[in-house]
Amino acid sequence: MNSSILITGGAGYIGSHTTLALLQAGHEVVVLDNLSNSSRESLTRVAQLAGRAPQFVEGDICDAKLLQSVFARQPIQAVLHFAGLKAVGESALKPLAYYRNNVSGTLQLCQAMGDAGIYHLVFSSSATVYGEPSLVPIGENCPVGIPTNPYGRSKLMAEELLQDLARSDNRWRIAVLRYFNPVGAHPSGLIGEDPRGIPNNLLPYISQVAVGKLKELAVFGDDYSTPDGTGVRDYIHVVDLANGHLRALEALERRPGLGVWNLGAGRGYSVFEMIRAFEKASGLSVPYIIAPRRAGDVAECWADAAKAEKELGWNVKHQLSDMMNDAWRWQSLNPDGYRSANDLDNIV
Ligand code: NAD
Ligand code: UFG
Repeated sequence: MNSSILITGGAGYIGSHTTLALLQAGHEVVVLDNLSNSSRESLTRVAQLAGRAPQFVEGDICDAKLLQSVFARQPIQAVLHFAGLKAVGESALKPLAYYRNNVSGTLQLCQAMGDAGIYHLVFSSSATVYGEPSLVPIGENCPVGIPTNPYGRSKLMAEELLQDLARSDNRWRIAVLRYFNPVGAHPSGLIGEDPRGIPNNLLPYISQVAVGKLKELAVFGDDYSTPDGTGVRDYIHVVDLANGHLRALEALERRPGLGVWNLGAGRGYSVFEMIRAFEKASGLSVPYIIAPRRAGDVAECWADAAKAEKELGWNVKHQLSDMMNDAWRWQSLNPDGYRSANDLDNIV
């Protein structure tokens, strides 16, 4: 049965792709987003692709009255909770903002959900909670580590809050999804990742070097104990990740309590492999220099994704070449992200 789903942070990178997937699957979608790291243009384009629009509420998950009114306005069966801040470096400079948005925000949301009698929740967590993994691939039963930054700690705190909530009341059904490294864009090139300022993550940085917005990539360390000395990560296409949320929603219908699932491709690529794959997709060269290791980085991190396959019936459909082709299509069609479209609107 199709239902009404609230998506917090639905205008953002992963949220917009998931909003599209839900609309295409026939669900009614309400997006709540304060647009602190996104623009409405993403949802305009989602509507264009889906042939219908999600409802949009501009506001903050920390606003208890707003949440109450959203839940009172229409019956919502489940919440996908993406809203939060995600920049590791910024979190060390503004820890309170991270605890407010990521921990208090999650608390406020759960409070409002419980008050409204809504108990199905899918939470965006991160592989960062594993800290420095003692072995790879990382299974969900690996102990969580000690995150090295306030962002990681805020995700771990939110997970612990949800564990306690699920233990306290068996009406709650919660899926904690630990994402590995989301990359790529919708194959249409209409929606994608639109970082503000200089990107922190590898693929957006490479893309901006390729279009000439940034001079060169700094490869953070080539002396790790990995096959080519550079860091290895589990990159997952954002469309596969979005589909994982649909499978998790379905799983909540059949299983009580809280479950934790890794969403990753189950294999790792090095920074050098990523550069080469991007160059192949774009036909451009990506100049780079070797820089010192970045503080807090681990050598290698990839998922054992077997649990999600077995229990959610989910696996990845996209290869590295798809990630690169789609990232490049998005970047080349939208060199200034969604701002290109806003500028056009202003000119018209
Ligand atoms: P994003 O910044 O593109 O999307 C987050 C959205 O939440 C934005 O649209 C932002 O405006 C909104 N938002 C932030 N604080 C809010 C608040 N208080 N109230 C309402 N809206 C708010 O980020 P994303 O990459 O789409 O990430 C989505 C979620 O996935 C985040 O929780 C993030 O921590 C998690 N995650 C992301 C990655 C990644 O590499 N992208 C990896 C692991 C986990
Ligand atoms: N890297 C570079 N140069 C750059 C950026 C990154 O060499 O300019 C390297 C990093 O050292 C690392 C790899 O590219 O080896 C990937 O780095 P990202 O910053 O893209 O991703 P991380 O694995 O460091 O972190 C990401 C998210 C976190 C999340 C984590 C696990 O940014 O929020 O994945 O899911 F917690």
